[in-house]
Amino acid sequence: MRSLERCAERAGDIAPIVYGRWLDDDPAAAELMRLTDEYMRGRMLEQVIESLLDPATTDPGGYIGWEYDNHRAYGATAVMYRTFLKAFVGVVREASGNDWNGAEAAAWSSRVAAVLAAVDRRDAV
Ligand code: HEM
Repeated sequence: MRSLERCAERAGDIAPIVYGRWLDDDPAAAELMRLTDEYMRGRMLEQVIESLLDPATTDPGGYIGWEYDNHRAYGATAVMYRTFLKAFVGVVREASGNDWNGAEAAAWSSRVAAVLAAVDRRDAV
């Protein structure tokens, strides 16, 4: 939460930076996202942030698994989740500069791992 607040103060609206970096890095995701507009992208990023902040979303039967089933139906893959979260965390970390600390790094890696585990669990069924 603290690192996100810092990011908002220092970098403002990071959505264009996150999507720009992600879609440069992952051409298959870029193809799927081709027809989406900035409003849809903003709503998606908002849900991503809420999911990272709320541990219940990654429980079995929780929001992330349910949303992944929807996403799979339009072609999203677990790999795209990885490239997306990598781009997102990178932007938040860079906005923090020297204020990024071990506790924040640990919190981010634990929540990102939980989201990816929830995705992988759905892939396995
Ligand atoms: C934790 C990760 C993610 C969450 C929580 C999430 C959430 C959402 C939500 C809530 C929407 C609907 C937005 C709206 O129209 O109101 C959405 C749409 C969409 N998402 Fe994601 N998303 C995630 C990751 C991804 C990834 C990795 C892809 C891969 C390309 C993706 C592709 C899309 C696309 C193409 C749509 C538009 C679907 C349509 O045509 O309506 N999302 N996402």
